[in-house]
Amino acid sequence: MLTRDDIRLLVQRHGADILAHDHMRIEMRSYQHGSVTTFAHSIRVACLAVWLADRLHLWRRVDLPSLIRAALLHDYFLYDWHDDDNGAHRLHGFTHGHTALVNALRDFRLNRIERDSIARHMFPLTPVPPRYLEGYLVSAADKISATRETLSMSRFNKPELPR
Ligand SMILES: [Fe+2]
Ligand SMILES: [Fe+2]
Repeated sequence: MLTRDDIRLLVQRHGADILAHDHMRIEMRSYQHGSVTTFAHSIRVACLAVWLADRLHLWRRVDLPSLIRAALLHDYFLYDWHDDDNGAHRLHGFTHGHTALVNALRDFRLNRIERDSIARHMFPLTPVPPRYLEGYLVSAADKISATRETLSMSRFNKPELPR
C-alpha cells in the first residue's frame, strides 16, 4: 500500500513538467473551491486519484502516469471562474473540461487516456461519460476534493492572492 509520501513523490515524478510549467502560475493565482487554489486542488485530485487506484487494487488496469497527468490537467482552464467577465463564465461547469483540454493540448503531449479523462471529468454534469477507468478515478477524486474544499471552514478565511 502506498503511503502519503509515496503518492506525493509519484505525482511529482510523473507530473514534473506540468507542475513546472509557466501557466501553472495562473492556477496559483485563482481560487477553485473555498480557500484552495486551482493549483493546490489539482495536486489534491492527483494524489487522491492515485490513492483510490491503490486502495481499490486497480494497478493492473490503470496507467499511473496517465492518471496523474490527467488529474493535474483536469482544471487547466486558466482563468478565475469567480471573475464576472460579463457572464462568460456562467457556463463554466459545462465548458471548462473542453477548455482545459484545448489548453493542455497546446502546452503538452497527451495520450488518448489523458485527453478523454480531462475532457469528460465533469460527467454526469456533462452527458458523455469517460471512456477509461482513469477518467472515472479523476472524476471521483475531483468530486470528493471539491466537496471537502467547499465545505471546509477555512473558506471564511481567504487570503488575497497575488495578481
Ligand atoms: Fe473541473
Ligand atoms: Fe476540479
